[in-house]
Amino acid sequence: MTSETKASRVLLAFLLVGAAAAAGGHDDAVARRTMEEFAGFPASDGGEGPSTAFRVDSEGLQRQIDELASFSDSPAPSVTRILYSDKDVQARRYIKGIMNQLGLAVREDAVGNIFGRWEGSEAVLGAVGTGSHVDAIPFSGKYDGVVGVLGALEAISLLKRSGFQPKRSLDVIMFTSEEPTRFGISCLGSRLMAGIEELAQSLRKVVDNQNVSFLDAAESAGYKMHPEDLQSVFLKKDSYSAFIELHIEQGPILEKEGIPIGIVTAIAAPASITVEFEGNGGHAGAVLMPARNDAGLAAAELALAVEKHVLESGSIDTVGTVGILQLHPGAINSIPSKSHLEIDVRDIDEKRRNDVIEKIRRSATEISKNRGVVLSEFKIINQDPPALSDKSVVEAMEFSAKQLNLEYKKMISRAYHDSLFMARVSPMGMIFIPCYKGLYSIRPSPFSYSHKPEEYASPEDMANGVKVLALTMAKLSLE
Ligand code: GLV
Ligand code: MN
Ligand code: MN
Repeated sequence: MTSETKASRVLLAFLLVGAAAAAGGHDDAVARRTMEEFAGFPASDGGEGPSTAFRVDSEGLQRQIDELASFSDSPAPSVTRILYSDKDVQARRYIKGIMNQLGLAVREDAVGNIFGRWEGSEAVLGAVGTGSHVDAIPFSGKYDGVVGVLGALEAISLLKRSGFQPKRSLDVIMFTSEEPTRFGISCLGSRLMAGIEELAQSLRKVVDNQNVSFLDAAESAGYKMHPEDLQSVFLKKDSYSAFIELHIEQGPILEKEGIPIGIVTAIAAPASITVEFEGNGGHAGAVLMPARNDAGLAAAELALAVEKHVLESGSIDTVGTVGILQLHPGAINSIPSKSHLEIDVRDIDEKRRNDVIEKIRRSATEISKNRGVVLSEFKIINQDPPALSDKSVVEAMEFSAKQLNLEYKKMISRAYHDSLFMARVSPMGMIFIPCYKGLYSIRPSPFSYSHKPEEYASPEDMANGVKVLALTMAKLSLE
């Protein structure tokens, strides 16, 4: 027996056992037939059995997650890794190193989306993609996005160890800047891959809050480009036959219900807005109250209006956040002459979300009139529609969870992900794993699971997610 055949048998042995377990363990013949259809080559009587055939290296994965978390601009356990910073560059090097170790063909596009490809036997076909991000907002945790990159690499390693041979190529993608921290643009890399021309235009001139341009920041991280190169990031049609992202849920449902796997059917519609008010400022003692036009108070009033309009929607699915509120000049004895707000509004219902945005706009205008300040900016940075998962990808994920005898729940993603944009260029699906409240939170809360240092996913849940991802990719690769 060649080593390849033997390895295939080991994989099949595992898959057969999984299918039999899902079928109640009574109908081996049916399970065998199913797996022959799935795997595309005849089932054998197997060799080493399931426990050695399809085991995730949980220790190795956790070690990698911990190592990656050490590339941070804030102290542990928090992680801060901002686009094109030195730590981001170190993280990129780390990911490329693992891709190389796995024997993947590594390429980077103009903005630094990183692709590690395992070439399939029919490489001309659209590939099956997976991946996520490793940038981290200020003072966040070590699992957001990272599980979908390092976990995907472990899924590839697992398939390789199992002797699997892909027909369609398998790609692991590390997307550039899913988080909007530096340039205010969420899912920058995947948004550009989706071919959005306006983004390619705006990236030519956008600057961060230190006035560093996107192009200069990219160059400092090793991505020197001409503005025309931005279009080269657009994905060619049919590059991917499917895209699946593994991610922590970032919410309470899976933990609360004790379910190990979430299968995402849709991603909620996110929008972000920047607002600026300008007043006259002045001395905090000398300018009497009736003479003031305080840009800070206008911002405070608008923040409360955001909450009011969101609650007025009457739906628990409408959410709004003022995550940034800056005052200028920022001195205790100076009336704020300028204020800057960044507002995040989301809903699973796009129209309802847009209605809230309109109400916020009207409030901003009213507040500026009442307070005698100028509304110098009301800019909708993005107003994205929701994305639906593809039926065939959902079916493949469900099939895999069943093979593995793992309970799953179909659910909506309230956080956005690179998958929101990959859905525009490929059939898309997402696998969620539980995310816990945090084992060492100072103020444990039943609601906050992610975007904070206490973010946590268990090795067991990550292993389950990796296995569902691996099987889903294997199945879709053979189609
Ligand atoms: C992603 O991090 C989001 O804000 O949903
Ligand atoms: Mn995030
Ligand atoms: Mn994320």
